[in-house]
Amino acid sequence: MKKIIIVMSIILLVALVIWLIIQYNNGAGQSEKTEYVASNRDEEILIVDIDELEKRAAEFISIGALGYIQGGAETESTLRRNQTAFDMVDIYPRVLTGVNEPNIKTSILGTEISLPVIVAPAAAHGLAHVSAEAGSAKGAAVSGTIMSVSTYASSTLAEVAAAGDGAPQWFQLYLSKDDKANRQLVKLAEDLGYKAIILTVDAPIGGNRFRDARNNFEFPLALPNVPRAGGKTQGQSINTIFAAAKNVLTPYDVMYVKSLTKLPVIVKGIMHPDDAEVAIIAGADAIWVSNHGGRQLDGAPAAFEVLGDVANRVNKRVPIIFDSGIRRGQHIFKAIAMGADVVAIGRPVIYGLALGGWRGVVSVFDYLKKDLQRVMWLAGTQNIEEIKNVELRYKCISVKCEPL
Ligand SMILES: Cc1cc2nc3c(=O)[nH]c(=O)nc-3n(C[C@H](O)[C@H](O)[C@H](O)COP(=O)(O)O)c2cc1C
Repeated sequence: MKKIIIVMSIILLVALVIWLIIQYNNGAGQSEKTEYVASNRDEEILIVDIDELEKRAAEFISIGALGYIQGGAETESTLRRNQTAFDMVDIYPRVLTGVNEPNIKTSILGTEISLPVIVAPAAAHGLAHVSAEAGSAKGAAVSGTIMSVSTYASSTLAEVAAAGDGAPQWFQLYLSKDDKANRQLVKLAEDLGYKAIILTVDAPIGGNRFRDARNNFEFPLALPNVPRAGGKTQGQSINTIFAAAKNVLTPYDVMYVKSLTKLPVIVKGIMHPDDAEVAIIAGADAIWVSNHGGRQLDGAPAAFEVLGDVANRVNKRVPIIFDSGIRRGQHIFKAIAMGADVVAIGRPVIYGLALGGWRGVVSVFDYLKKDLQRVMWLAGTQNIEEIKNVELRYKCISVKCEPL
């Protein structure tokens, strides 16, 4: 009897130790996931430099979510280059030009906007603020610009449309392997009044994002528009979600999306002039030059570095939208002088949202409006069309850079 009690006690002790080890490991690996809290701030924000928003917003975003938002692929060399590339060219100050209060209004695909900057589609704004994409959409609408909504948004397409209250919105489609789901999503976007479909083609597979791997980041919230998962994406990594989407893309996919809708189809994620050509032949109504904010192929050039070549090939056949690294007026100016019609911002919108809700998003756009206007004034350009005729001064490209 005594022996049995001792054996039982040892078994119980071993079981207890194993249980404790499992609990400890779960806790260590998942601390971020369970501690997810989004900001509910609702205020204008004071901005001196948009770059500073990242640090300020960090206080209100959980660690894993912050890594997902801030991060790029691998060692983030392309992410860093997206910022520094703008320094490769200069803007000549121009004087005695008679310029007064430059007009920053423009239009894209028939839609008038108050500045040549729109919201880039980005997954899961709900990581940053309780109002999620609905908050960003209200901020964009109040700012007089276009809201782009990702398939991986954390608000439903209907919630975003309602928050925009008639303001122009574009829907960004990640193709599903399920044709019926694709058709339903595009039809829903059309029915809700979205004005264009953005087909993102640079993510057939997720980039190798070291921060997400280190943080073991999994979405702590639902992404209600993701078709195959029925929106139930809690506990899934971005790579799992990408893997469920269509991951072999060809020009026929552009033709396929064109066949689904009468809306303009914008092909997003173009970095090579040949790919711009292919997309246009396949029916693209606009080209979106982007390296996904440095989140996909690390070792790729900065998006700004390839913009001029892509614009030359496009040769004004269709409009060009540009993103990846836009943070101030001079970046917007340089991108337009280099061939973009409008630019888009991803992370700054999310940081503005975290820091002030929809009012914070408005603060980001207000800052860019003032900053762009100042740059235009100092560079002697009265309106956006005039920027398109500006010759930038090339520091490096004019002496023909050799391969590294
Ligand atoms: C957190 C985050 C999520 C993103 N999700 C998507 C997405 O769902 N679809 C897409 O086409 N691009 C996505 N992007 C890329 C953006 O559309 C855009 O290309 C990029 O953010 C631009 O760079 P910027 O953040 O330096 O402005 C995402 C970017 C970020 C930062």
